[in-house]
Amino acid sequence: MSPKEKKVEQIQKEEKKVYLSIEDLPSVGNATAAKLREIGFSTIEALATATIAELAAAGIGEKRAAEIIAAAREAIEISWVTAKDLAELKKNVGRLTTGSKALDKLIGGGVETQTITEFFGEFGSGKSQICHQLAVNVQLPPERGGLNGGALYIDTENTFRIERIAQMAKFLGLDPDKVAERIIYAEAYNSDHQILLLEKADRIIKENNIKLIIIDSLTAHFRSEYVGRQSLPERQQKLNKHMHKLLRLARAFNAAAVVTNQVMARPDEYFSVMSVLPVGGHIVGHTSHTRVYLRKAAGKNVRIARLVSSPYLPEGEAIFKITENGVEDLEEEQ
Ligand code: GTP
Ligand code: MG
Repeated sequence: MSPKEKKVEQIQKEEKKVYLSIEDLPSVGNATAAKLREIGFSTIEALATATIAELAAAGIGEKRAAEIIAAAREAIEISWVTAKDLAELKKNVGRLTTGSKALDKLIGGGVETQTITEFFGEFGSGKSQICHQLAVNVQLPPERGGLNGGALYIDTENTFRIERIAQMAKFLGLDPDKVAERIIYAEAYNSDHQILLLEKADRIIKENNIKLIIIDSLTAHFRSEYVGRQSLPERQQKLNKHMHKLLRLARAFNAAAVVTNQVMARPDEYFSVMSVLPVGGHIVGHTSHTRVYLRKAAGKNVRIARLVSSPYLPEGEAIFKITENGVEDLEEEQ
């Protein structure tokens, strides 16, 4: 290819904005790309939502970092948008069924993409069961309430059970082996490992068409490692950053993000419905857009979900059950 042809090709490429990998961005050479990958930015989508400080951590100058982020944004057209365009973007928001119509309705039609949904509740309230069910359901086509995608599963308490996934998949008429193949799993050994897993997740998300990111549990490691009042600010700061990373991944890849959280007793409110509080307090609350409190109810396998915070939905409750088949609606009274 002559230099002129090369130039033409370059211009055409720029005009079409066909950026295939991070090296294709202006001012990202191989060395910079390697540095970026090292700190977890392997895709243009992730770079588009990075901050200058994050890139600076890889030894990239501030001016250069700003250029790279701007180029990444331009490449995927994240920028100022008009309210009309915003409505268009919102049209892309997908909904993922929980398996229970009543629970879906409570949260506005299923778990939403581009935001974080938090399920919190006591031991045995069904948080992990919902995570398992969502990891299967996300693989369904949209007509059946899925997102035609895979799931990324960060398990912090070693409670993920592949047999349970198979059981749920069979009930939905899916091939259990194929379903298992589309769940990308990692066990997080401590809070730093958990943070790192998410920081390095962008390439895996892109390559596997991940439409659901699960962290079960979001807070368990943080809670056991950061004990005592003096360590609280550090814990909150780390949790905050972790949640923002999750939110940015959910937005960049139009994926649903689901986290679980334990509760702690709230002695002052012992007799009220909300006699417990989710761990992590306001920080977790502010970044997760939909919060659902789960509790056991009278009756075999019956659970009550209570919507406690949503940007636009009214508070309310829904009843569902956990059976051999997975998360289901309660049958009609007989
Ligand atoms: P922690 O992680 O301990 O805080 O609890 P969790 O909220 O994650 O609870 P989890 O989702 O693990 O719920 C456990 C409950 O789900 C059990 O007590 C059972 O009621 C139900 N469950 C789990 N597996 C099965 C199953 O195979 N069949 C049936 N029928 N129920 C199940
Ligand atoms: Mg659990």
